Amino acid sequence: MTQLALPSVTSIVEADEFIVGHSDAVQHAAIIHLNAFEVDFWNKSLSLRRLLLLKRLFRSNPAVETRFRERRDIHLQAIGGNEEPSRVHLFAYAKAFSLINRANGGCFGGGKVHRFLDLGCSPGGFSSYVLKHNWGAQGVGVTLPDEEDRIPVQIDSDLLANYDVRYTDVVAFVARSTETDTPPAILAHDGSPVRYDLVIAGAFPVLQGAIPWWRRTQLVFAQLILIFANISKGGSAIVAINTKAFLWTVDVIGMLRQCFETVTAHKTGRLHAVRTSCYLVCRGFRATSEEVDRFTGRLHGALLFLAAVPMESSQDDNGRWEYKHGPEDTPLVSGQSAAEIFTAHHRFVLDLFEPLWEVQYNAIRVDLAGVLVDLYGAEAGIPKYAESDGFDSPTDVQHEAVEHSLATSFRPWPHRQPTASPDDYTAHHPDTIWRSRGRGQAFSQSGQGPPEGLFGRRRSQTSAANSSSTGYHPVEKLWDSTSRHR
Ligand SMILES: C[S@@+](CC[C@H](N)C(=O)[O-])C[C@H]1O[C@@H](n2cnc3c(N)ncnc32)[C@H](O)[C@@H]1O
Repeated sequence: MTQLALPSVTSIVEADEFIVGHSDAVQHAAIIHLNAFEVDFWNKSLSLRRLLLLKRLFRSNPAVETRFRERRDIHLQAIGGNEEPSRVHLFAYAKAFSLINRANGGCFGGGKVHRFLDLGCSPGGFSSYVLKHNWGAQGVGVTLPDEEDRIPVQIDSDLLANYDVRYTDVVAFVARSTETDTPPAILAHDGSPVRYDLVIAGAFPVLQGAIPWWRRTQLVFAQLILIFANISKGGSAIVAINTKAFLWTVDVIGMLRQCFETVTAHKTGRLHAVRTSCYLVCRGFRATSEEVDRFTGRLHGALLFLAAVPMESSQDDNGRWEYKHGPEDTPLVSGQSAAEIFTAHHRFVLDLFEPLWEVQYNAIRVDLAGVLVDLYGAEAGIPKYAESDGFDSPTDVQHEAVEHSLATSFRPWPHRQPTASPDDYTAHHPDTIWRSRGRGQAFSQSGQGPPEGLFGRRRSQTSAANSSSTGYHPVEKLWDSTSRHR
């Protein structure tokens, strides 16, 4: 199948026409490489087809890449400075958590959380929210070993009486627990054994540049093992996950449906909308110990497979990975075949993800409008029709693009609402990439710190006043460049 010829659009109206003209009839192979499992989703979802088409159009515009590079350079230059790290991400994550809480009937505030574990906790927005809104709650945060001086945890010191930060890589921690055949239990802030009523699995690569697909999957699987080892009966888990219809993602969602009473999906705020990720909120943990053992065993097996992937892959001169295995080869954790997984869960996953795909579509469309307005003037932006339509004016669009905001007033599917409505906070995108001064690819998954980080009491320098002088700065990432598969 020949690739679809992408037009050089000069206005958002042309982009809209292109999408409308192709989303019904276009063949997936003309746009993207999909495996048989993903093709079944493609065939069932107009939202997915529209999103993938728009992404192709967006990325094909040379100005998009140029803008991205310019912004990244500005941020990287700023990294040479000596200023204290900004707290903008802390506040953005706290706001994001408030949206998750609100979308779930306030179940993570008002004193309902007693003990919580926050994986990938820095800079500490989620933990700050939970500590502030659950008086007396006890918490443990886990983050990478070199975060103490790189992306410091910035939780206010007056919230720290019942909170402890452990510095370790969660993937390495789980691997060591397998080697030593010890359960990866994470002790409470005071060193006592405990089960947590909320486990947040929010560790997410915040590397600059392309992140190999197996790293993200490794992180999710390691955190799922930690959920099983540390959650209490009836407890909740929040899992950061990709919103692509990968077989392994649907498989994991199927497993979570079996283990929890409810599973919902949320994007957190206007600036998260553009990303190919969401938070799954899983409530009412109900898995039996047999199920936990079975799933944990399979997750360990899948982690062994993933650990071998980089050894069987190579990087070309441009740093692009050539993989022997793709996400579709990841061992399944539910114990079902791909066909069984599709039959059992595709309707549920479509109901979960389609509203998010639509939110992401609108967000990318606004970004594209900003690019086109810069190139061709205000007329190229989103047209202002009748007031009652709620469309944005081109000036608004330009302003929003500059601010990296995402308008949500344009909804091609007005009858549908996202599970969490994007709010109006204008801080930087929470899932921004960070890079440390003078440390290059410091988010390595290997060479991790000592396991005692999780067991010993190690009070961090967590208040803003005490944070390290090593600066970090946001680099906006407008799209996902995970692998050659997308
Ligand atoms: C998106 S941020 C999380 C923000 C956090 N939820 C908050 O509220 O501030 C992702 C975090 O995961 C951490 N992380 C990434 N990989 C990790 C790993 N292998 N082990 C532990 N933490 C990791 C990153 O350093 C980063 O702090």
